[in-house]
Amino acid sequence: MPVTIAVPQETADGEKRVALVPTVAAKLAAAGAKIQIQHDAGASLQLTDAAYEGAEVVADAASLYGGADLILKVRPPAVEEVRQFKEGSVYLGFLAPHASDEQIRLLAERRITAFSVELIPRISRAQSMDALSSQASAAGYQAALLAAVRLNRFFPMLTTAAGTIRPATVLVIGAGVAGLQAIATAKRLGAQVEAYDVRAAAKEQVASLGARFVEMDVKAEGSGGYARELTDEERARQQEVLAKHVAKADAVITTAAVPGRPAPTIVTEAMVEQMKPGAVIIDLAAETGGNCALTQPGKTIEHGGVIIEGPLNVPSQLAEHASEMYAKNLQNFLSLILKDGELSLDWEDEILAGSVVTHDGEIKHQPTRERLEGAAA
Ligand code: NAI
Repeated sequence: MPVTIAVPQETADGEKRVALVPTVAAKLAAAGAKIQIQHDAGASLQLTDAAYEGAEVVADAASLYGGADLILKVRPPAVEEVRQFKEGSVYLGFLAPHASDEQIRLLAERRITAFSVELIPRISRAQSMDALSSQASAAGYQAALLAAVRLNRFFPMLTTAAGTIRPATVLVIGAGVAGLQAIATAKRLGAQVEAYDVRAAAKEQVASLGARFVEMDVKAEGSGGYARELTDEERARQQEVLAKHVAKADAVITTAAVPGRPAPTIVTEAMVEQMKPGAVIIDLAAETGGNCALTQPGKTIEHGGVIIEGPLNVPSQLAEHASEMYAKNLQNFLSLILKDGELSLDWEDEILAGSVVTHDGEIKHQPTRERLEGAAA
């Protein structure tokens, strides 16, 4: 029996992305899967049901989930959605394993095999499936544009009949995937860009984009290529060095994150008070609390003439391309678990083993299991 793949309309507030775009849906259908989309699944990005040629359109989520072997979603499912998933089906999408306790218990109870795209190992073979990276690229690009629009100054140097305008200085804190894309975008707009990260490897990447790396003796590589949390001493040292750079920046874009932890506070209130009036902070870490002490997630505030914006779900602002990249990430992951249109799960594969959260009635992701069931479980 060919697998039935279901694509619902996203229900989270303001979410405009969709898990599958028509081109990718057609490829999966050609590979033998049966595609079902919820009516208006792509409406938020002007995709009509008819655009999904050959897919079956299902009126509501309950009927869709009730018949699906494999569910593709962007945002983690709500508890009510998980209740509608068919027992024994497969879920693939964001799952926020550290923040979805009730959903995860229910996924296990309903014997659903749930893969969390956040947990896909960051190995070369999985790069084409890396949804964190594709969505972070969209967010980083958009952050630079938001900064440029909020700032009442030009980014580039301009030589005009009315005089010469000096280029804006942009400081990017956190030079991971989002930060590097913010650097590249701000450079393309003509700004002078400085960047900082606690990972030493970031220095070369920052330099390759033509930006200046802010040097300091605080280095905090964690495991798996991620950063670790700083000690109090390191944080104080970091703030001392960064304060000078923050003070002279026209725009600060912050993207620093430590997996599974609240975002580190890097830009303090005192640092904001040293900034130039009219300067802008775009805090991409707002979702997990913010890198600026004054950030109010989802809001734009002003403090002493400095504008601080804490945008949420930034990739959704670029819904079309963010969805296109996400759908391709899912397609590449599905190539591991679909053989001739049927499900086939090879647990020897480190990508599957690394990203599974629940399977066969059990919570397989160790940190989540330990949190929900105790270390001995
Ligand atoms: P992330 O979203 O977890 O964090 C963003 C950035 O913030 C990171 O570069 C991190 O080092 C930095 N950061 C954390 N705490 C900080 C602090 N206190 N001060 C300044 N910066 C701080 O990171 P992202 O973008 O997900 O990348 C994580 C790692 O994964 C990187 O090493 C990246 O190169 C690697 N990667 C590997 C891939 C692959 O091989 N398939 C694909 C994508 C990323």
